[in-house]
Amino acid sequence: MKVSVIGASGRVGKAAAFCLAEENVVNKLVLISRKDSIEKIEGESLDMYDAMAAKDIRISIKSSCNMEDLHDSDVVVITAGVPRRAGMSRSEIAIPNAKIVAEYSRIVAEHSPHSIILVVTNPVDVMTYVALKASGFDRNKVFGLGNHLDSLRLRNMLAKHFNIHVSEIHTRVIGEHGDHMVPLVSSTSIGGILLKNYALDGTIDMEGMVKKVINAGSYVINKKGSTEYGPAYAIANIVNTILNDEKKILTVSAYLDGEIEDIKDVCLGVPVKLGINGIERIIPIKMNENETKAFKNAANIVKMNTERVMDSLEI
Ligand code: 2OP
Repeated sequence: MKVSVIGASGRVGKAAAFCLAEENVVNKLVLISRKDSIEKIEGESLDMYDAMAAKDIRISIKSSCNMEDLHDSDVVVITAGVPRRAGMSRSEIAIPNAKIVAEYSRIVAEHSPHSIILVVTNPVDVMTYVALKASGFDRNKVFGLGNHLDSLRLRNMLAKHFNIHVSEIHTRVIGEHGDHMVPLVSSTSIGGILLKNYALDGTIDMEGMVKKVINAGSYVINKKGSTEYGPAYAIANIVNTILNDEKKILTVSAYLDGEIEDIKDVCLGVPVKLGINGIERIIPIKMNENETKAFKNAANIVKMNTERVMDSLEI
């Protein structure tokens, strides 16, 4: 299985590449960067090889700035772009990143036309739409990391709150990977027991938890300059689900054509069944009134941002 990471000189890209290597599902990993970062990613690949020796993993890790090395990738992860700095919103980097994502998506379509594109570059819902249109790929082959990471963060917070193993927490965040994310509280369960039926000792400040999830990325960026391990393992979760054809239901940014609340022509975080062919099905979930209202609001905001960005591109 071959996976290429475009933007591998960046902190999220190189962390994701390392996770993919050490998860031992990928046997060909290609680190792609601009020419001026080739020395850096050559160093990254050599460093990763040393780690793989410690884990007895046999893998080919190639570093390259030649886009032809993308050929025959099963999955191409696009992390390239201007990173968000402390105090910046994800939307502020939308237009410069759209140009980068559009260019790389066209290159992937040329050199690896049968691959799946996983977009990580922020604002990821808008960038997923850009990648879909620029690549010309089917919509089941282009999707974004976003709310899967937010869902992991909310799981963590609930696990800590209830002092329960994180594997017992089933929850999901949908909508925008940003300020307008929507936690599916009505579908959240602990050990298979719906949250509303779980004997809550005292009230749970879900609103406060959601605020923490919304700000989790910024909180880490303010402390260490970038998030890395969280996105990296979230990416590895998604890539492994694809390559192992696991048919898991993960929340990715996907192009909607009316499947949920008749929302169309926008990419949003929604639950999808994921396998070797990418998105097999968008799950047409039912939500409670508040969740539906928040999801529709998120759709309007992301659609407005997408239109603003698409107007700035010649696609
Ligand atoms: C995050 O929230 C990178 O947007 C990603 O950490």
